[in-house]
Amino acid sequence: MMKLPNWRPPTLTTERLVLRAFTEDDAQPLFEHARNPNVTRFTLWDAHRTVADTMLFLRDYAVLRYLEGMPEPYAITVTPDPHPIGACGCFWAAKPHQTMELGYWIAEPFWGQGYVVEACRAVLNFAFTEYEPERMQARVIDGNTASERVLTKLGFQHEGVFRHALLRRGNFEDVRMYSVLRNEWTKSGHESG
Ligand SMILES: CC(C)(COP(=O)(O)OP(=O)(O)OC[C@H]1O[C@@H](n2cnc3c(N)ncnc32)[C@H](O)[C@@H]1OP(=O)(O)O)[C@@H](O)C(=O)NCCC(=O)NCCS
Repeated sequence: MMKLPNWRPPTLTTERLVLRAFTEDDAQPLFEHARNPNVTRFTLWDAHRTVADTMLFLRDYAVLRYLEGMPEPYAITVTPDPHPIGACGCFWAAKPHQTMELGYWIAEPFWGQGYVVEACRAVLNFAFTEYEPERMQARVIDGNTASERVLTKLGFQHEGVFRHALLRRGNFEDVRMYSVLRNEWTKSGHESG
């Protein structure tokens, strides 16, 4: 679904959070969190070294995804502070098979407060309604227990381990595959939450 150049995913509001599209004004505050190597311990992307890395994420990655009409990446903000503290979103992993993928991260001072579950629940409701994927998957690098817990709390099932499926920073990593299917999400009760 190709969108107009200025299309942005609609703002989603939850009890404690506002999820909105990124703008270039987010570069500096986002950089302060994205530069933290504790955040990127289990991510595909590396810690940002300079604000130019963050600007590249905002200008190239985010703008391209919005052009494709994807609800990704969403800036996670804690009401009433408009500054981004992380990102989450869904994108087509395999559109012909109606499979989307969920991704997320949040800044270290905000860990352990349930924010990612709350943010992802809203994004998943939006994605299942607007894009109608049959399958929503998420991949977790082995060892990222907190991320696995997030997925379990969202009703995802662990499907298996892809051994040494990822060469990252010179190491082969095992990757855990999780998914939730459309009918499971609909029945899960997350929609009302
Ligand atoms: C993983 C991450 C997204 C979790 O987000 P969060 O908002 O802190 O998640 P929650 O507050 O909902 O906590 C998730 C659960 O993990 C648990 N948890 C936290 N750290 C843990 C750890 N080191 N080991 C085991 N469980 C852990 C929490 O106790 C919580 O479970 P509970 O609700 O049953 O107590 C966040 O830590 C993060 O952004 N990490 C860096 C980036 C990243 O790894 N992204 C995911 C890539 S797949």
